[in-house]
Amino acid sequence: MADKLIALIPGDGIGVEVVAQARRLLEHYRAERGVPITLWDLDLGADRYLKDGTTYPKEIAARIAGEARAVLLGALGDPRVPGLEHARDILFGLRFGLDLYANVRPVKALDDSLVPLRGRTAKDVDCVVFRENTEGIYVGMGGQFKRGTPDEIAINEDVNTRKGVERLIRAGFEHAKKHGKKTVHLADKSNAMKHAHELWYRCFFEVAKEYPGVEAKHVYVDALCLYMVQDPSPFEVIVTCNLFGDIVTDLGAGLQGGLGMAASANVHASDPSRVAMFEPVHGSAPPLAGKDVANPIASFLTVGMMMTHLGYPEEEARIEAVATRAVREKKCTRDVGGALGTRAVGDFFLDALGSSKR
Ligand code: NAD
Ligand code: IPM
Ligand code: MN
Repeated sequence: MADKLIALIPGDGIGVEVVAQARRLLEHYRAERGVPITLWDLDLGADRYLKDGTTYPKEIAARIAGEARAVLLGALGDPRVPGLEHARDILFGLRFGLDLYANVRPVKALDDSLVPLRGRTAKDVDCVVFRENTEGIYVGMGGQFKRGTPDEIAINEDVNTRKGVERLIRAGFEHAKKHGKKTVHLADKSNAMKHAHELWYRCFFEVAKEYPGVEAKHVYVDALCLYMVQDPSPFEVIVTCNLFGDIVTDLGAGLQGGLGMAASANVHASDPSRVAMFEPVHGSAPPLAGKDVANPIASFLTVGMMMTHLGYPEEEARIEAVATRAVREKKCTRDVGGALGTRAVGDFFLDALGSSKR
């Protein structure tokens, strides 16, 4: 059988550094463990855009859609491109272009030391956020009128389709059923957004009827933010719209040790045979870039999620176990209590996974 094609887009800032380390893990699986993958390195990001104007070429998009099994993305965002045009083309080109409607973001603390809440431990922080990933306020519909005048108007439409809402909600319930979770929470603002989120609310309880073993609960997203910092333990699976999912998962990252610990997968959930895109939740963190201080663990956990997608769930479990050890043994970066650099954490992971290469 032909190798599975894995596209790598390091992107900008610390994205480049963490993907360099994540690539070593993938190379270990390829060269030392016989995992049939071919790595395809793509030079896309702010440097490329500033050099020749390239953002996300059609031929590359077509090859990813037609031939790749997975994409690993670092992060996009560079102060030299204040309009973020390249970032939107690449990131949304992947998410929208491949119809990766579920952005699956686990909020899981691997060790008590990572949990900043008084009286709470790692067992209290273990849920998965299903963020709608192809609609909402992110579609870019709208515009500006009379820009720069006292009468200016700026509009971003919030697009919610029955199909889009329903498939994301169903993905959350399917996950709960598959993993023996007792509850799914819908986080919305149906009290204020009476058209769009009435659709979410109605659809949520309709879909819930198909899953009698899973309890469907509703929470307003503002209250969810309160509960998550008071006691996150009741939350197992959360389904929510694109924008709220973005915000809630940065809050969630704060409960699991920071953005350096938060992984994510962008999937077409109803058909896992389709190409998926994997990225740490964090951005390009310009102030940390080039200093060998970025925490690569989020990108390693992201490789773990990719390994499950490729058919090796036991490797995701191993990577998570090594990440837990790295934190406990302080073989990690400063943000999570260690004193190692990005690359040295990569060395620790490769050793722990049994690699003979450095
Ligand atoms: P950010 O995630 O880059 O940084 C937020 C905070 O978390 C900073 O204090 C940073 O130092 C810290 N942090 C992030 N990742 C870390 C890591 N691996 N190790 C240690 N600390 C880490 O968010 P921001 O500063 O709001 O955004 C910077 C740029 O990244 C912007 O251009 C933004 O649009 C972009 N961004 C891109 C993505 C993506 O490509 N998926 C995601 C988020 C932000
Ligand atoms: C994320 C990021 C992106 C988002 C930005 C860079 C557009 O914050 O992946 O969480 O809002 O989806
Ligand atoms: Mn975000």
